[in-house]
Amino acid sequence: MKKRVLVLTGGGDCPGLNAVIRGIVKRAAQEEDWEVIGSIQSFDGILREPTEIMVLDEKAVAGIHFQGGTILGTTTKGGPFAWPIKEKDGTWSSVDRSDEMIRKLQYMGIDAVINIGGDGSQKISQALFEKGLNIIGVPKTIDNDLSSTDYTFGFQTAVQIATEAVDKLVTTAASHNRVIILEVMGRDAGWIALHSSIAGGAEVCLIPEIPYDINKVLQVVKNRFVDGKGHVNIVISEGAKPKGGETITKESNEVGNANLKLGGVASKLLYELKDAGCEADMRETVLGHLQRGGVPNAFDRILATQFGVKAMEMALEGKFGEMVAYRHPEIISVQFLEAISKYNYVNRDSTLIKTALGIGMCLGD
Ligand code: F6P
Repeated sequence: MKKRVLVLTGGGDCPGLNAVIRGIVKRAAQEEDWEVIGSIQSFDGILREPTEIMVLDEKAVAGIHFQGGTILGTTTKGGPFAWPIKEKDGTWSSVDRSDEMIRKLQYMGIDAVINIGGDGSQKISQALFEKGLNIIGVPKTIDNDLSSTDYTFGFQTAVQIATEAVDKLVTTAASHNRVIILEVMGRDAGWIALHSSIAGGAEVCLIPEIPYDINKVLQVVKNRFVDGKGHVNIVISEGAKPKGGETITKESNEVGNANLKLGGVASKLLYELKDAGCEADMRETVLGHLQRGGVPNAFDRILATQFGVKAMEMALEGKFGEMVAYRHPEIISVQFLEAISKYNYVNRDSTLIKTALGIGMCLGD
């Protein structure tokens, strides 16, 4: 019987997931004694009865490297350690089904698991590894917030989409003499906002790592408007907050989703500016999930393919408990514990921040 590797995608989707899957399958196809199976919607495909899996052969992955989303589907809810259960009174609770799932994987003849996901997914990988599962991680997130890899795939595509949005908003802001605020993704790290602000030429960039002073932002507007004429483009991360204030969050009402939902910070900033005395005409735009969908750019396709090939090679070597990572110019692997221990924040003293300040950008402090 052939050896089996199980592949799954977990957490929010991200351009490049399909290119990783294709990389794994194409590398496995060079080995006579290995086959690849995909679990539908992360581990849910294994936990469901009947099991939801698909055979991943070269035919199944042909041409998927430039497709957005994931052919396996994904989820941000539940998982083996917190499977949602509906109680008789209609309320929801959760149960740990990890042992049962590991037994099922043994029964299915799975020799290795490749979990493609962000930091939440890799925490699950570590917990399953501690229970004896042969598991390998591939980092994924448009937020680029994992510290052990130079970049995650999907990030460059998201930056490109956000930059194109800034470009478009600059021309409409200039035509109407307006302040336009663009809200981009980035829960705790402002990488998308910072990169797209520099690339698109925004005057103000507000990120979670640097709480903003509304008067500093207002000053930029005042400086750039003469006799009611002028324009200002502001890019703000969804997780940004004023000095002494809080990030705007609301509890998710989706069963099994423990994440707080972000959103609304652009609108909040608009009213804060108005309250502070801003007289300019203002508008806000929320880019949202446009940043996560669609075709990955060439950089992300290449990085994703490198990650897929490396992950399969780790399965062949029996190198488990580790996550693939990019440390220019190499593709390496790091232990899960190292991968999940440190968050990748924008450092106030970094070269990129110095560049932003060097071109006169206001970071709100
Ligand atoms: O973690 C990636 C991310 O894109 C965050 O920036 C954002 O807050 C979140 O996903 C949105 O998740 P969902 O699709 O579950 O609303």
